[in-house]
Amino acid sequence: MPEYIHVSLAWPYANGDMHAGHLAGCYIPADIYARYHRLKGNHVLMVSGSDAHGTPITVEADRLGVPPSEVFEFYHARFLETQKQIGISYDLFTHTDTENHHRIAQDIFLKLLERGHLYIQQQRLLYSETEKRFLPDRYVEGTCPICGYADARGDQCDNCGNLLDAVDLINPRSKTDGSTPVVRETEHYFLDLPAFIDRLREYLSDGKEHWRPNVLRVSQNKVGELKGRPITRDIEWGIRVPLEGWENKRMYVWFEAVMGYFTASVEWAHNTGQPDAWKKWWYNPDARIYNFIGKDNIEFHTIIWPAELMGIDGLYATEADGHLNLPYDVPANEFMNIESQQFSKSRNWAIWIPDILERYHPDQIRYYIAMTAPETRDSDWSWDGFVTRNNTELLAAWGNLVNRVLKFAHKHFDGVVPDPGELREMDRAIIEQVESGFDRIDGLLNAVKLRDALAETMALAREVNGYLDRAPWFKVVKEDRQAAATTIYTALRCIDGLKTLFAPFLPFTSQQVHEFLGYDGALFGEQAIRTYQESERAHQALTYDPSGAIGRWEPGNLPVGQALREPQPLFRKLEPSLVDEERARLGQPRDDVPVPGGR
Ligand code: MF3
Ligand code: ZN
Repeated sequence: MPEYIHVSLAWPYANGDMHAGHLAGCYIPADIYARYHRLKGNHVLMVSGSDAHGTPITVEADRLGVPPSEVFEFYHARFLETQKQIGISYDLFTHTDTENHHRIAQDIFLKLLERGHLYIQQQRLLYSETEKRFLPDRYVEGTCPICGYADARGDQCDNCGNLLDAVDLINPRSKTDGSTPVVRETEHYFLDLPAFIDRLREYLSDGKEHWRPNVLRVSQNKVGELKGRPITRDIEWGIRVPLEGWENKRMYVWFEAVMGYFTASVEWAHNTGQPDAWKKWWYNPDARIYNFIGKDNIEFHTIIWPAELMGIDGLYATEADGHLNLPYDVPANEFMNIESQQFSKSRNWAIWIPDILERYHPDQIRYYIAMTAPETRDSDWSWDGFVTRNNTELLAAWGNLVNRVLKFAHKHFDGVVPDPGELREMDRAIIEQVESGFDRIDGLLNAVKLRDALAETMALAREVNGYLDRAPWFKVVKEDRQAAATTIYTALRCIDGLKTLFAPFLPFTSQQVHEFLGYDGALFGEQAIRTYQESERAHQALTYDPSGAIGRWEPGNLPVGQALREPQPLFRKLEPSLVDEERARLGQPRDDVPVPGGR
């Protein structure tokens, strides 16, 4: 029975280009996971979108002297293009400034209010007398009250990772003009988190053996100390609070951004002309929702969003629909450093994806990221590693395997899959090894051990290379054509299987191999950028046309006599000299890229 798998991933703030940290943290993992389930024949719904609101956007808008909408629209368009190029196969990549998202976020607010989960409370916040306004958390810096780090942000300390209240900062200063803000009273809505403690405890203890230990530990630790949390702000950019007298306040970005998982599902269903289809993932007890995120976002996904979901259970549904699903798993990744240093936008210590896509094949990038993904601990992007893994693994063990076997078949067997005659013991053994890889790798992928799954797949490719070292083909083809035919047939069959095992990781080149082997059609369907018309505004979104990829998780049965296509090298060898060139780019001003507002 096909399963319903919801794959969602953290919504990127649309305030800058996508970088390797995004891809390693959640974009590539989520995409691998979605593609794997599509190959299994499961019903996948993969959604995300640009996070349009919040101070990360307004800070950038202020810096550039443009309205926040311009910043978000500019980077949203770039996200679409970048993610299409690197092959993130969304069913829908939308954003949080759609009419759909605004409307549902307001419905959710009102539902929580109606059920008594929100209350109004006076709050003491930092106010700038020079700017005559309340300062959002990210506009304030100071010393962390928990660890003493001198440059903590108002909302979170980058040193100890704790979420902070800006008023608790020691020696606060305004990021805009350096002045010292004062504390003033204001009124806000709060989400009554303590009321959910028992249910959250139960959620976090009930059958969570499949969760990553770190995610579970962080979440369980936080539950005990939950306090009510303000979910509105004194700002102008964001989603309106749908109540009289609250015209000057907006919803807190995190309160509404996490709702995107839900609102995007509804939007997708609407776009596909089946307005209720989202319920198959949200109100189906057998469906599984996976939120792929980075470790700094754990609390929002394992506590705050589940509490919101508990508070609105039954929304847009009838009694017969049952209960809203909570995230089944939140596979958070750790961080990826770059050449042993932390990512820094201000120092431009970063690997920008639009930039490296100009020099490298998307599958080269995907491979390196998947192989060094920070699944269990922080990892490091090193250009030396990038070149080495490309040359000695991707190219040597996989690209060359495909190339030399197919070339040989063209040269000696008229470009068709040769008749193997009777298989020898060694042929049966290697075929059987690839076939049994499907079960083992399936288990790893399903459990979101993606790096291990890729390593196992690469190990199988090496086994096939080892087989070709032992088996007769190259030297004997003139005297013993049949022996060579048996070997080439066997190798082609193994390549056919490996192509599928690699496909979630290397979708572009697996498609190529698929075609080299003489098959037609798309392994995964097409990706496109479409425009959706809403009543007030149109918007662009990345969508995926899910033709193909249905139930192909099997080694394949390559027909004898099938005509092969002329192979092209899958990957290019990378020169060691580029290590120094790329390292030299790090930390240099990045001034050849367009910015919002033009330049
Ligand atoms: N915009 C946030 C970030 O880039 C992530 C938001 S995840 C969401 O860190 F689920 F809340 F949208
Ligand atoms: Zn700290």
